[in-house]
Amino acid sequence: MRHFIFFPPEASEYARHIDWIYFGLIGISVIIVGLVVVLMVSFGIRYRRGSPAVRGRLPEWVSRDVEIGWTVGTLFAFVFIFWFAAATFITTIGATPNALEIHVVGKQWMWKIEHPNGVREINELHVPVNVPVRLVMISQDVIHSFFLPALRIKQDVLPGRYTSESFTADKTGIYNLFCAEYCGTDHARMGGRIDIMTKPDYQKWLDAQPGAHNLAEKGRQLFARLGCAGCHFEKGHTRAPDLAGVYGSYVRLADGRTVRADEAYLRDSILQPARDIVAGYQPIMPSFKGTVSEDQIFDLVAFIKSYSGSGEVIK
Ligand code: CUA
Repeated sequence: MRHFIFFPPEASEYARHIDWIYFGLIGISVIIVGLVVVLMVSFGIRYRRGSPAVRGRLPEWVSRDVEIGWTVGTLFAFVFIFWFAAATFITTIGATPNALEIHVVGKQWMWKIEHPNGVREINELHVPVNVPVRLVMISQDVIHSFFLPALRIKQDVLPGRYTSESFTADKTGIYNLFCAEYCGTDHARMGGRIDIMTKPDYQKWLDAQPGAHNLAEKGRQLFARLGCAGCHFEKGHTRAPDLAGVYGSYVRLADGRTVRADEAYLRDSILQPARDIVAGYQPIMPSFKGTVSEDQIFDLVAFIKSYSGSGEVIK
């Protein structure tokens, strides 16, 4: 669809679909409202009091065939619209394998962004074109909302819980980034830009950034510094569960439930260790609430995700 004035550009397949739905629904509404107005006015004139218009029963084919026809027709039209909209929306949820995972921390009043190799930026998001990207987001204080108009995606960023949004941009360029949830004095300034780059440009940009460490490596160092290794890397694992390969696995808990060890589970286990005790263990782990920041939790989770049990054990 063409790019309208006063309308943000479309930088993904998804954005084009959303616009089709948006303009499609408006178009249908305009046609129906127009039809109703025309019929109202013309019937008002035609059947005015004293006019010679015929007022008897309608012919059989009108009251049956036409009735059935438009009911079935509109039903199919709207089921089609529902299918198209639902199928479009589903592409933004759920994990795409091999997606580039970028972490976003919202705080009053800025966006802190971290790339898989540890490169950080503020109020700017550099991404490669034609690569599926998954943003994993959390807030350090109040509710914010990460809004990328050119990609037609907007997702609340909550304190205490990860949310995510996925997209695959297919047009390079620099587009707006906004906070779309009123979050205090400088809410209106809490924005920036997304820079969609070609793959080689993105790589060049990444290489030119200072502080590129492997996220998992940073997490590993933090893990050692916080003393986690004392229990989690102990031989025999009598005090704490083995973390090798835990990410993505199913964990049996002391209360009989089985949960999947995803990012949210790992985060909860660091901050509220007494909540989901793994079967066979005592609730002896202290909470790290207030000790580690949301950025550091991302690092720790990255380390746990990458840890397979091989390599040297850190103390
Ligand atoms: Cu953050 Cu509005």
